[in-house]
Amino acid sequence: MNESSQTLIEKSFTFEDCGGCQSLTLSVPEVLDPQYGMYVWPCAVVLAQYAWMARSELQHKTILELGAGVSLPGVVAAKCGARVILSDSAELPLCLRNCRRSCDVNHLPNVPVIGLTWGQASPELLSLPPVDVILGSDVFYEPEDFEDVLVTVSFIVRRNPHAQFWTTYQERSADWSIDALLHKWDLKCINVPLETFDANKNHLAGSTLPGNHTVQMMIITRQVF
Ligand SMILES: C[S@@+](CC[C@H](N)C(=O)[O-])C[C@H]1O[C@@H](n2cnc3c(N)ncnc32)[C@H](O)[C@@H]1O
Repeated sequence: MNESSQTLIEKSFTFEDCGGCQSLTLSVPEVLDPQYGMYVWPCAVVLAQYAWMARSELQHKTILELGAGVSLPGVVAAKCGARVILSDSAELPLCLRNCRRSCDVNHLPNVPVIGLTWGQASPELLSLPPVDVILGSDVFYEPEDFEDVLVTVSFIVRRNPHAQFWTTYQERSADWSIDALLHKWDLKCINVPLETFDANKNHLAGSTLPGNHTVQMMIITRQVF
């Protein structure tokens, strides 16, 4: 599909805190296209909510979003004062273009967009600056890619031992587990209950997300023995 045949719509989200006394409204462009990285997945709204609630921690931190697609979490982090780098597969130029478009719509011209394919030791991965937080929403959706995602995360947290990987996933099958892979790549994880960051509600950030959604949030860090 070329760019001229794409149908774009802008979707708005409003993140609020303390009963609405602080809020952030932004729009991201969605492309009506079957490619995964072209529309906002429910996981993105939950991870963006986590970034919004943790915004005071993110100020001046360097954040890398993996498999960013429409990039809602990364855009929220950038709007909250983080130095954000957005990435998606180097083999999916239309997804990378959509990352750029989300920055343009939100007046974030200085956010770099890079091609970073999971599991590959590419020049882009090797030349990353020090990273504090990695974001990844709905990157655990194809079991055959789970290890590649964790290889990339493991590489980054070895270089940046304090770095955390904040990730949301949708429970699509009870058989899927990343436990053995976490162990293999010297990583550990904790689950973050949705109610601790106000994500267990209907219409989160003005989205169509129902309150009883199956999105989960976890934080993955380096396992030190
Ligand atoms: C399910 S979508 C999630 C998109 C976005 N994070 C969201 O939640 O709205 C998965 C994303 O991973 C990207 N992706 C798929 N395979 C990849 C790979 N091997 N390396 C890097 N990114 C990849 C896709 O292009 C897509 O943007």
